[in-house]
Amino acid sequence: MQERFDAMLGTATAAIAAAEDERALRDLEVKYLGKKGEVTALMAGMRDVAPADRPAFGQKVNALRDEVTAAIQARRGALEEAELARLCEDPTFDATLPVAAFGGSPRVGALHPLTVVSRHIEDVFRAMGFLILDYPEVETEFFNFTGLNIPPEHPARDMQDTFWLNDGNLLRTHTSTGQVRAMREYGAPLRAIFPGRVFRYESVDASHEHTFHQCEGLMVDKSVSVAQLIHSMKTLLSSIFERDVTIRLRPGYFPFVEPGFELDIQCQVCGGRGCSVCKHSGWVELLPCGLVHPNVLRHGGLDPNEWEGWAFGLGLSRLVMMKYQIEDIRHLLGGDLRFLAQFRQG
Ligand code: PHE
Repeated sequence: MQERFDAMLGTATAAIAAAEDERALRDLEVKYLGKKGEVTALMAGMRDVAPADRPAFGQKVNALRDEVTAAIQARRGALEEAELARLCEDPTFDATLPVAAFGGSPRVGALHPLTVVSRHIEDVFRAMGFLILDYPEVETEFFNFTGLNIPPEHPARDMQDTFWLNDGNLLRTHTSTGQVRAMREYGAPLRAIFPGRVFRYESVDASHEHTFHQCEGLMVDKSVSVAQLIHSMKTLLSSIFERDVTIRLRPGYFPFVEPGFELDIQCQVCGGRGCSVCKHSGWVELLPCGLVHPNVLRHGGLDPNEWEGWAFGLGLSRLVMMKYQIEDIRHLLGGDLRFLAQFRQG
């Protein structure tokens, strides 16, 4: 009997030590220790043993079961360690990745088109020596209005419907809030852009969102010109669209620039024929701009007799829509993964 036990133990431990993976090990576990397993069957054979020999027999079977169990556990530990060691050697293994990435279909993310275009603009202006600045979304009335030559009773306050906060502050309605901030912070001469989110209390449709993106640009120097401004805008737009685009300049009124312009771009969604994005006009207002008003320079701590500036307020959301031919602004912040996945690169 002892020999039979020893033989079984020998075969079992040899097989267990040779098990190459968890699945093979699991099979052996069932083969020996499962309900119909060989060791379990020995226990069941107890009734054929003479009553006097039963205690010794029982002990032997128990010992055998414990040894097989221990062998399986040891092998399992070794297999796990080997797998871990293999992963640690693998240069592409990242222990910080979420578990889902190991499942059948890892989801690959993509940069949001607003991020892609914003970074592109930053690259173009950084190459021209501009600073990239970031200013608060919650603003004081001063930087959003008064500092920009829009005093409390000025009708231009109604040009942009504002989200007011209970404490008297507001959600900035444009990135122009950075103009006086940047002048105070950096003095002159100054070249900077400040991209960011802006907010307006208005009803949402295919071309209006309560939250959208702009990129402000500001240049202050001893003498600046509208020609420089237009040149910079053309450089930017042809880089973004990777070709020459048709633009037009119209006079535009903003209290913080004089003269002020609206720079329109021919609608890239319909090619100028007319669609919902351009409200069937063939043109899209993309770039209000102008020469900085002397009062704004004063608020920025600069002497308007000494310094001049130009500024623009690029509609980043609209630019993204033009570039990717997106017909509805609501897609941009809608969070629909099917929309966003289209911008996956490579
Ligand atoms: N801040 C203005 C707007 O959002 C745009 C603008 C910026 C106009 C800079 C002129 C100069 O409508």
